[in-house]
Amino acid sequence: MDYLKNTDPEIFEAIRAESKRQSSQLELIASENFVSSAVLQAMGTVMTNKYAEGLPFKRYYGGCEYVDIAEDLARKRAMELFSAEYANVQPHSGAQANMASYFAFLNPGDKILGMNLSHGGHLTHGSPVNFSGKIFEAISYEVNESDGLINYDALREQALRTRPKMIVTGASAYPRTIDFETFGEIAREIDAFLLADIAHIAGLVAAGIHQSPVPHSDVVTTTTHKTLRGPRGALILCKKEHSNIIDKSVFPGTQGGPLMHIIAAKAVALKEALHPDFKNYQSQVVANAKALADGLMEHGLYLVSGGTDNHLLLIDLSKSYEDLTGRDAEKALELAGMTVNKNTVPGETRSPFVTSGLRIGTAALTTRGLCETDMRQIADWIVKVLANPTNEEVIRSVAKEINDMCQDFPLYSGDSAVRA
Ligand SMILES: Cc1ncc(COP(=O)(O)O)c(C=O)c1O
Repeated sequence: MDYLKNTDPEIFEAIRAESKRQSSQLELIASENFVSSAVLQAMGTVMTNKYAEGLPFKRYYGGCEYVDIAEDLARKRAMELFSAEYANVQPHSGAQANMASYFAFLNPGDKILGMNLSHGGHLTHGSPVNFSGKIFEAISYEVNESDGLINYDALREQALRTRPKMIVTGASAYPRTIDFETFGEIAREIDAFLLADIAHIAGLVAAGIHQSPVPHSDVVTTTTHKTLRGPRGALILCKKEHSNIIDKSVFPGTQGGPLMHIIAAKAVALKEALHPDFKNYQSQVVANAKALADGLMEHGLYLVSGGTDNHLLLIDLSKSYEDLTGRDAEKALELAGMTVNKNTVPGETRSPFVTSGLRIGTAALTTRGLCETDMRQIADWIVKVLANPTNEEVIRSVAKEINDMCQDFPLYSGDSAVRA
């Protein structure tokens, strides 16, 4: 990192501080992970210099023979990993993958049915503050308030009654398995398209730990940076018959030149995900989430749906600490060295800036090597802080213990190419 240090010491210092923050805190944000050194290296390469509008071997620019190799490998690996007929690996982000997928199948004003944001859906699934809710007529389904689960009978009834042109499945904060097969049946019953957004659970799907939506959906989108453990970005999977409209909807429909350094890094991450070790990693992610959930529930905390089947869990603080908001809980945990995010819960009464919930995930700490016993310890710390959110002494003592734990699980140790 010497070039950066000499050219721009302020940015170098910010990166160094971020690197230290990541290694000295417990990262429990459900949508984050730590990429491998190989993925980091691929991102910081000369492929960023290249314009490559178009697709491998069909570009609008000369000099694409090497970036073609990277993109072709990325899309082939994506197809193999997810047993998909076709993949486009160019979307810059999950939001853009969803935008391109909507525009491939829908016209402005068409009706979409997605999961309500405060029930676990994503902004791009039809929220009124997002393009998806502004351009399309968005309606939403909710989870049961009693058990926090998707009610497939109610969903079917709502789909038959409202007749959307597309149903959107997938979520940002749903701790349970999603029955994609039933979603597919409901969509076919009303002749609607099915978009499955597996941004959160893509790693679990790739490892065969969660049911795959690929056979049941017209189009599947995912980010590449959450459980899939790749660079920040996204990809789209679809049936061969839809490949043309998806490609055109990505470019020129919604994007310009692809980020070739990121696509190269996606290829590296997808190769890692095809390795047998990736299945062990994903199994451990889920085992860790269960251990954390059990630890929290044994201390009396209320989890939406009563537990987890995947990599994340959702604490409803209103049932355990009536006056403690998600915002204040997030702050107290961060002071103690645990990074989480506040989150709305089903039946939310507070604003999205305040909230009554916390979303916690285990993908990042599992990458770091933590296992079930560590999760039990973390559950104890979380409960200690939530019970004493303004007690500086408690927070200081937990922070000290966390700092000690972090020393035992070094991040990117010894790799000076990726550490400032
Ligand atoms: C389900 C889901 N879809 C889409 C996105 C958007 O991804 P990005 O932040 O890369 O635009 C997210 C991000 O959190 C998500 O959880």
